[in-house]
Amino acid sequence: MIAIRPAIRSDARACARLIVEPSGGINAILGDRRAALRAARAAFLVGDTGLGWNRSLVADEGGIVVGLAARLPGSEWSRLRVRTGLAMLVGARGRAHRLVWRGAVYDRAVPTIPADVLYVMSLAVLPGRRGRGIGAALLARVGEEAAGLGVRAVALDVDAGNGRGIAFYRREGFEPVAEVAAPASRGLPPLASIRMERPVA
Ligand SMILES: CC(C)(COP(=O)(O)OP(=O)(O)OC[C@H]1O[C@@H](n2cnc3c(N)ncnc32)[C@H](O)[C@@H]1OP(=O)(O)O)[C@@H](O)C(=O)NCCC(=O)NCCS
Repeated sequence: MIAIRPAIRSDARACARLIVEPSGGINAILGDRRAALRAARAAFLVGDTGLGWNRSLVADEGGIVVGLAARLPGSEWSRLRVRTGLAMLVGARGRAHRLVWRGAVYDRAVPTIPADVLYVMSLAVLPGRRGRGIGAALLARVGEEAAGLGVRAVALDVDAGNGRGIAFYRREGFEPVAEVAAPASRGLPPLASIRMERPVA
């Protein structure tokens, strides 16, 4: 039996594992899984970041966290952006420079988050639990919240190389609205990201 519930601080370990799952995400940027886990955990524990425990829903299966959706109203992003970056920098320690470089590229390349959307910062399900509707259930809850907030759409960014993720979002009613790319630089992988949106019913 799967329950979708708000995350709590003690979910940090499980949620950090989920935050580093998506391809092209924090793991690829830092190039080191342990540093990525530390950065993810720091951003989760601080709260009031884009990945904060108080911005996250988890899928709980018999007391085990098997999925995560971190979401925030687009109107809050300008306030949370700096806090998110700083928390991750502290967590990434020796790898922080990669985050700074990529952060600068990302800020220039990725479309701003509109104020009238509910933005999904992170969505992931544990590898062994995929294909059972957990991701869809998390997105359904986010969709209900978006309707309650009166926003125009649910929005997210997905790595252009994440074909299965993109197929999943399309099946869930999302359409691409913008695509951005930046070349590899300073030892960092190239950035290619697709903004997708699903209108609120
Ligand atoms: C994308 C993701 C959240 C979907 O969660 P899920 O619980 O497997 O989703 P559902 O069971 O509701 O839907 C399954 C669909 O997800 C897609 N999918 C993407 N990656 C998948 C994977 N590794 N295994 C199984 N299905 C996957 C498929 O389209 C699948 O459809 P199918 O059953 O017709 O093949 C999950 O696969 C995941 O965590 N992937 C890694 C992280 C990621 O890419 N996140 C999204 C980008 S930010």
